[in-house]
Amino acid sequence: MEEFHKVRRLPQYVFEQVNRLKASARAAGADIIDLGMGNPDLPTPKAIVDKLCEVVQDPRTHRYSSSKGIPGLRRAQAAYYARRFGVKLNPDTQVVATLGSKEGFANMAQAITAPGDVILCPNPTYPIHAFGFLMAGGVIRSMNVEPDDSFFGPLERAVRHSIPKPLALIVNYPSNPTAHVASLDFYKDVIAFAKKHEIIVLSDLAYSEIYFDESNPPPSVLEVPGAIDVAVEFTSMSKTFSMPGWRMGFAVGNERLIAALTRVKSYLDYGAFTPIQVAATHALNGDGSDIAEVRNVYRRRRDVMVDTFGKAGFEVPPPAATMFAWAKIPEKFRHLGSLEFSKLLVEKADIAVAPGIGFGEMGDDYVRLALVENEHRIRQAARNLKRFLSTADETMHNVVSLNAHR
Ligand SMILES: Cc1ncc(COP(=O)(O)O)c(C=O)c1O
Repeated sequence: MEEFHKVRRLPQYVFEQVNRLKASARAAGADIIDLGMGNPDLPTPKAIVDKLCEVVQDPRTHRYSSSKGIPGLRRAQAAYYARRFGVKLNPDTQVVATLGSKEGFANMAQAITAPGDVILCPNPTYPIHAFGFLMAGGVIRSMNVEPDDSFFGPLERAVRHSIPKPLALIVNYPSNPTAHVASLDFYKDVIAFAKKHEIIVLSDLAYSEIYFDESNPPPSVLEVPGAIDVAVEFTSMSKTFSMPGWRMGFAVGNERLIAALTRVKSYLDYGAFTPIQVAATHALNGDGSDIAEVRNVYRRRRDVMVDTFGKAGFEVPPPAATMFAWAKIPEKFRHLGSLEFSKLLVEKADIAVAPGIGFGEMGDDYVRLALVENEHRIRQAARNLKRFLSTADETMHNVVSLNAHR
C-alpha cells in the first residue's frame, strides 16, 4: 500500500540507525559512551523542581491552562529579553509560550506556509527547521551556515532564482550542529536583506545561554533596530535550565507572526500544565546562578573533550557555544560517509555520535559530539578512540573486504 503523502516526506531519522546499533551493543554488555543525542543529562535545578511540587498541590492548577501561556510567564520572558538583550517586548502581543521550541517552530511553519512556498534553510541544521516546513507543504532551499560574507552570495542567488520568491529565511546561531555563533553585525545585514526583499526571518536561539566566551554572549536578532518588523525568535528552557522533558519554550517578535502562531496553537493545545508554567516563570525570574552553573559544566566538558580527543588523534575544534562539538571525520575514514563511520565507532570504539548526514547532506564529512557525558566518561571515550585510531589501517582493510563480499 502506498505510504501517506506526509509520511512519505518524513524519512526515518538517520539517528535511529545509530541508536539501534547502540541498543544492541548495550544489550550485549558493551559500555557505550553516548555522545549522540543532545539530551541534557544534568538535573533541573532544585528550586525549579520545588516550585513545581508546591504548585501542583493546588487543585486549581489541574484544569486546562492557557494555550498562549499564563500572563506571568509571558511577562517573565519579556523581562528576560529586556535584561539580556535590551529588547522591549509587549508580553500580550509579542510573546507566546510554546511546548518546547520545537513545537513552536513546527506550528509557526503550519501557520504561515502555503503549498509550494520556498523556505531558505541552513544545511546542515537541526532537522525540524527543514521538516517543519516540509510537513506544512513548503519547499526547502539549502543555505550556507557560516555567518560571514559567504552567507550572502547564495542568499542573493536564492532570491533571484526562486519561484515563488522565498517566504522565510531560517537562522540558527549558536548553531546546532556546527556551533557557529553570529555577531550583531551579521544580523544587521540579514535584517536589511530581509526587509529589502520582504522575507520573514525565523531565528532559533535555543542556545542563547550556552556559550563559553563570557565577554561575548550570543546576540538576539531582535537587537537589530526594526528587526521586529520581519522577525520572530524562538528560545527554549531545555538547555538553559536543563529542562528538556518539561517542554517549555517561547516565540517572540513580530505581532502578525506571533498572532498567527497563537491562533494555530489555540486550536491544538491548552498550554503546558499550569504547575510547569509557574515553575518556568520562577526559573526565568531567577538570579542567573543556575544558568552560570550549567554553562560551567559544559565548558569543562568541552575543554576535556578538545584536549583528550586531540591527543588521541581526533581533532575537535573547540565550540564557542552550544553543547556540541562538530568534528571532521579523520581523513582515512571520510570516504565512508558519516553514517558508516558512526556505526564503526559504536562497533569498534564503544562510542555513539550523531552522524553529520542526519543534519543534511552538507554535514556528511562530520560527526556531532554532544557534551552529555561527564568528564570521566569523556576521558574514557578518548582512550577508546586512541585504541580505535591506532588500528585504523586494519579496520579499514576489514571494512573494505567486508564490502567487497557483500
Ligand atoms: C537548535 C535547536 N532548536 C530547537 C531545539 C528543540 O528544543 P526544545 O526542547 O525547546 O523543543 C533543539 C534541541 O536540541 C535545538 O538544538
